[in-house]
Amino acid sequence: MFKLKDLALLKTQNFIDGVWVGKGQSILSSTDVHNPATGEVIASVANASVAATKKAINAAHRAMQEWKMYTAKERANVLKTWFQLIMDNQEDLAMIMTAEQGKPLAESRAEVSYGASFIEWFAEEGKRVYGDVIPSHGRDKRIVTLKQPVGVVAAITPWNFPNAMITRKAAPALAAGCGIVIKPSVKTPLSALALAELGRRAGLPDGILNVVVSSDCEAIGGELTSNPLVRKVTFTGSTTVGKLLMAQCAKTVKKTSMELGGNAPFIVFDDADLDAAVKGAMASKFRNAGQTCVCANRLLVQEGVYNEFVERFTEAMAQLKLGNGMDAAVTIGPLIDEKALSNVASLVDDAIQKGAEVVVGGKASALGGTFYEPTILKSCDQSMRVFSEEIFGPIAPIFQFKTDEDAIHMANDTEFGLAAYFYTRDINRLWKISESLEYGIVGINEGVISTEAAPFGGVKESGTGREGSKYGIDDYLEIKYMCIGGLKQ
Ligand code: SIN
Repeated sequence: MFKLKDLALLKTQNFIDGVWVGKGQSILSSTDVHNPATGEVIASVANASVAATKKAINAAHRAMQEWKMYTAKERANVLKTWFQLIMDNQEDLAMIMTAEQGKPLAESRAEVSYGASFIEWFAEEGKRVYGDVIPSHGRDKRIVTLKQPVGVVAAITPWNFPNAMITRKAAPALAAGCGIVIKPSVKTPLSALALAELGRRAGLPDGILNVVVSSDCEAIGGELTSNPLVRKVTFTGSTTVGKLLMAQCAKTVKKTSMELGGNAPFIVFDDADLDAAVKGAMASKFRNAGQTCVCANRLLVQEGVYNEFVERFTEAMAQLKLGNGMDAAVTIGPLIDEKALSNVASLVDDAIQKGAEVVVGGKASALGGTFYEPTILKSCDQSMRVFSEEIFGPIAPIFQFKTDEDAIHMANDTEFGLAAYFYTRDINRLWKISESLEYGIVGINEGVISTEAAPFGGVKESGTGREGSKYGIDDYLEIKYMCIGGLKQ
């Protein structure tokens, strides 16, 4: 098990209308949370019913009637206190995250501060929700726009970033004046519940932020997407589930933001700084054991530097240490569960069958459980599933290309469009490739693109909407146009 300085951060109940609600209080069952590194059960969390979810939605609706009347500065003050409490408890939150998600402690600490940064950012951004005065179409009229909170927000969040994917939805929603109901992944609910506890301590009014945990995603998701009081659904997860949620939301015409799957190309041109490219590829590919939507999925390397890149990348990979993320020396943890392990194994088998060569790895680790060896596959081609599917694991398939046009074609040959990366020292190529890539995010000579200051989001089947930056609050606001007529000259 793991030791916390503040044991009260380990919550196993749902947080509804400012109250911790456990089994027996309209909640009938519970669900176990496992440590993916050891398989042990670390907690048993109450499973919210549909009735409990309705209660949470009603509470968010009631609470926001007052919250939206606060000044932006008053809301910012509560959010800043929440930010500070999260940072003060960074170590405990990181422990909880590593225990339920498996990522190394250093990555968990980084995620806690990344998550908190969205709260700090949107606390300030809420003060800059400006309307407009628009030159009018009549001498006796004036046109004014107001931006107002969209209404109750439902946030459905994934297991790969149990903290940051919540804060980057909750912070803009709360800063805009909305109430929120969060349904975290049932695999990693403890980080979400700890965040709610710190929000309560920070002074978030009862009902304004609610967390419902359930293994019955269909029933709870069904309520969140059909309840007429919910006006916006924000989701991070797979494209398949995102499409389903969008279809469900259509019935009550809810606003949606979808941060869905990716298939990031990582392109290395002949003129690239290879040391920088290897460093970027390591950071982008192996963050969270390859389980991020923006991880390099396909490494596309130009023929002139292909062999040298494979050699240097292989050397760099020898530094990775696979193991339990609680061990300070470990740099890469397990996959989230057995299903993830068998998916990764079948992608590698498919590539090998079609002619890929294993440079390192290529099999489940002797550590057992859900550990998979960091893997490099070379001589990959476009017939392989690793070219077209999101890998979500520590597998680096390397493809070869000849010309800029080949690279652009291969990079865009996917239904996804979240992140892309490329390395070049040629300024003309830099612009040409940037403009040609059909992606929402482009890393140029850089493998780490995530920050609260920039707009994160995809095009094509990678989703809609942007999170973070000055744009991230727009998804939680509606524009109201006021036409004032009958004015005397
Ligand atoms: C994700 O994988 O969905 C998010 C990654 C990030 O914010 O960097």
